[in-house]
Amino acid sequence: MRKLLKWTGITVGALVALLLIFYLVTYLSTNRRIHKQYTVQVKPLDVTVDSAMLAYGSHLFVVKGCFDCHGRNLEGRVFINDPKLGVFAGSNLTKGKGGLPVSYDDKAWLMALRHGLTPEGKPLLIMPSYEYAKLSDYDVASIIAWCKTQPAVDHELPLIQVGPLGHLLTFFDKIPLIPAEKVDHHYQAPAMVKKEITPAYGKYLSISCTGCHRDDLHGGPNHVPGGVPVADITTKGNLGKWSQEQFMMALRTGKTPEGKQLNNEDMPWQMTTAYTEEELSALYLYLRSL
Ligand code: HEC
Ligand code: HEC
Repeated sequence: MRKLLKWTGITVGALVALLLIFYLVTYLSTNRRIHKQYTVQVKPLDVTVDSAMLAYGSHLFVVKGCFDCHGRNLEGRVFINDPKLGVFAGSNLTKGKGGLPVSYDDKAWLMALRHGLTPEGKPLLIMPSYEYAKLSDYDVASIIAWCKTQPAVDHELPLIQVGPLGHLLTFFDKIPLIPAEKVDHHYQAPAMVKKEITPAYGKYLSISCTGCHRDDLHGGPNHVPGGVPVADITTKGNLGKWSQEQFMMALRTGKTPEGKQLNNEDMPWQMTTAYTEEELSALYLYLRSL
C-alpha cells in the first residue's frame, strides 16, 4: 500500500512537472512572437481631408466593426476581460488623455491598419489588420481622415494582458492574437474599388466577414472557446434558401428567416445593419455565387 502511494505520488508529480514545462515552452514561444521586431515598407498615402471622404470614413468606421473594440466615440473599450484568456482593450484612438500620442501621424495609422504594427514595428494584439490590409487606398485614407478629425476624449484603458489560455490558444494557432503574422506585408492594395452591385464588389466587402466565417466563408468552430459555431454563409448553409430581402432583413435586424435572433456578441449585426442597400446587394450576389 505504501509503495503504491509512493508511486502514485511520483507519477502525479512527474505529470504536473511535465505540464508546467509544456506551459513554459508555449509561454516563451508566444512571448517571443508577441515581442518580435518587424521591418516593413509603408506605402505613403495622401490623406487630404475632404467632406466626401469624411462622410465615407465615418460609415467605414461602423461597417468595418471598429466601434466594437474602439467605442462609438473612439474612446476605446475593454472587449475581453477573462482571467483565463486575458484582458484586451481597443485603444483610445483620439488624442485625449489615455489616447494616441501627439506624434501619432499618418504613417503610424498606416502601420496599424495595413501591417498590424505599432510605429516602432511591434505587433498590435487582436487588432484585425489582416482584414484592413486589403482595403483600397481610398478606403483606408477615408478611415484615417475621419478618425483624425474626431474630438479628443479622456479615457484611460487597462494594459493588455494575455492570460494562460490566451498563450495556449495562440501556440496552437486557434486565435488570431498576432495579426501581423497573418498580414501579407508586401500586398499592393488597389487605389480604389468601384462601388457597384456586382459579385466582385461583394467579394471585396466580404473580407470583413472572413475573420470569423473563414476565407472560404464556410464557417467553423468559434475562435473563443465555448462560443457558438460560426455559420456557413455560402449556398451550402441556410443562405442558399434565402431571398435577397430575407438576407437583408437578417443582416439589418439580426432575425433570420428560420426565426433565430442573432446575438450581436456572436454575429455583429449592429455592424451589418449600417451597410447600405448597395453594399448588402453586392454581398448577397457574391455569397450566392459560392
Ligand atoms: C476585434 C477588435 C478590434 C477591431 C474590430 C478594431 N481594432 Fe483597432 N485595435 C484593437 C486592439 C486590441 C488594439 C490595441 C492593440 C495593442 O495595443 O496591442 C488596437 C489598436 C489600434 C490602433 C493602434 C493604436 C495604438 O494604441 O497604437 C489603431 C490606429 C486602430 N486600432 C484602429 C482601428 C480601426 C480604424 C479599426 C476599424 C477599421 C479597428 N481598429 C478595428 C482591436 C480592434
Ligand atoms: C465577429 C465574428 C463575425 C463576423 C465579423 C461576421 N460574422 Fe456572421 N456570424 C458569426 C457567428 C458566430 C454566427 C452564428 C451565430 C449563431 O448561430 O447564433 C454568424 C451568423 C451569420 C449569419 C446567419 C447564418 C444562418 O445560417 O443563420 C449570416 C447571414 C452572417 N453571419 C453573415 C455575415 C456577413 C455577411 C458578415 C460580413 C459582413 C459577417 N457575418 C461577419 C460571426 C461573425
